Formats: sequence, structure tokens, C-alpha cells
Amino acid sequence: MLEIGPVILRSWEKNDLEKIHRWENDFQLMLYSRGIPHNMKPYENVVDYFDEERKNENRLHYVILLKESNEAIGTAVIRLSQWGIVRSGNIGTYIDKKYWNKGIGKIVTIALLELSFHFLNLDRCEAGSIEYNKRAHRVLEECGFKKVGVHRKSAFVLGKRWDWFFFDILKEEYLQMREDLIRKYLGDVAEDYLKKVTLS
Ligand SMILES: CC(C)(COP(=O)(O)OP(=O)(O)OC[C@H]1O[C@@H](n2cnc3c(N)ncnc32)[C@H](O)[C@@H]1OP(=O)(O)O)[C@@H](O)C(=O)NCCC(=O)NCCS
Repeated sequence: MLEIGPVILRSWEKNDLEKIHRWENDFQLMLYSRGIPHNMKPYENVVDYFDEERKNENRLHYVILLKESNEAIGTAVIRLSQWGIVRSGNIGTYIDKKYWNKGIGKIVTIALLELSFHFLNLDRCEAGSIEYNKRAHRVLEECGFKKVGVHRKSAFVLGKRWDWFFFDILKEEYLQMREDLIRKYLGDVAEDYLKKVTLS
């Protein structure tokens, strides 16, 4: 469990699945998150997916909770991979629509970077997002990711073909900006967080 500012990231539990099923079938959430708005997924498929993923030690799935109310408001994931000695994390997240544009996405992204670099010692993180998902691109770039590539016209959504953008960040880049980023977006509680995750 990681507490950071107003949010907590903890592992998926079985009793999260009903909510996750609702989110996975939410037209707008999937339009942005996956570029698959017609994501009509029966509850049983979500359960099967959960059962498969929890056996895979390279998948770190989290539910995002609001610390104040303990309400589950979204999910986040780090998918681990290794190429030779280089360890990567592919990150993804979605947040319930009613909480968009309140600064939570940036804090969740920082949480995923903390887990990736400060806790897991990965070498790099990456994320992919569809061309029209400007909000997600803004969040990634604000958190230090750079746009590094494009798969041109590789998605078809609502009658049109779209590019898929790729972003990444290296461990050394994150560590250089880490404390400034945490102070910028955690505000008053940044020092408490930094103290909590530092051994003196
Ligand atoms: C992407 C997502 C996780 C971001 O979370 P969030 O809580 O809305 O993000 P924040 O409030 O921290 O930041 C949003 C930023 O985007 C900006 N933004 C919003 N709409 C925008 C637009 N159309 N164009 C450019 N920037 C935009 C906001 O102004 C804000 O930036 P600022 O704080 O620097 O002004 C969330 O919106 C979400 O779950 N979207 C659907 C799923 C998804 O896209 N997942 C990511 C796939 S990679």
C-alpha cells in the first residue's frame, strides 16, 4: 500500500471487481483509456482477467482510493518487462470521470513513478496513449515523460483512424526532478511524504 497526498494505491481485491467491471464498460473512460469505447465486457471476463493477472508477478495492479473517504476512484498498473539488464515498467491508469481535472491523475502518475524508481529500481518507464487524449499527454509530460514515438494511424475509433503516442522517462531523469515534482503537486504534505519514504 502506498499513501501519497490525497490518494492511496493498494492491490486489487476481489470485492473491487464490480466497480472495475462498471469502469471497464464506461464508454467515455474506455474511449480515452483504451481507444475502445465499445468495450462490452461481461463481469465474468473481468473476474477471469483478475484471476490470470494475479498469478503473473510481472503485473502490479492497484486500486486508487481517496484517503479521506476510502472511496475507490480508479485503477493503475505497472507491467514489468526486462530486456537484457534493462528493466522497464509500462504504466497505465484510469480515474472515474467525476474526479477528472482535480489534480489526482498527476499524483497517481507520481505514485507510479515512485513505485517504479524509488521502490522497484526500474531503469525506465513508458506509457502509450491515443492521439486525442490530450489530458493524459499533459499529465505525462508534467510528470517528466517525453514523447518518443508515434504509431501512425494504428487505432480506429468512432469512424476515424488515429495515431498512438508513446512516452517514456528514464530513472535518472525522474530522480533528478523527483523532489521538485513531489513538492509541486503534493503541496503542504510533500515534506511528510518525503520523510516517510527516506531512511535517515
Ligand atoms: C488521464 C487521467 C488519468 C488524468 O487524470 P486527471 O485527474 O484528470 O489529471 P489532472 O487533473 O492531474 O491533470 C489534468 C491536466 O490536463 C489538462 N487538460 C485537461 N483537458 C485538456 C485538454 N483537452 N487539452 C490539454 N490539456 C488538458 C488539465 O488542465 C490538467 O493540466 P494542468 O493541471 O497542468 O492545468 C484521467 O483524466 C483519466 O482517467 N482519463 C481517462 C483514462 C485515461 O485517459 N487514462 C490514461 C491513458 S494513458
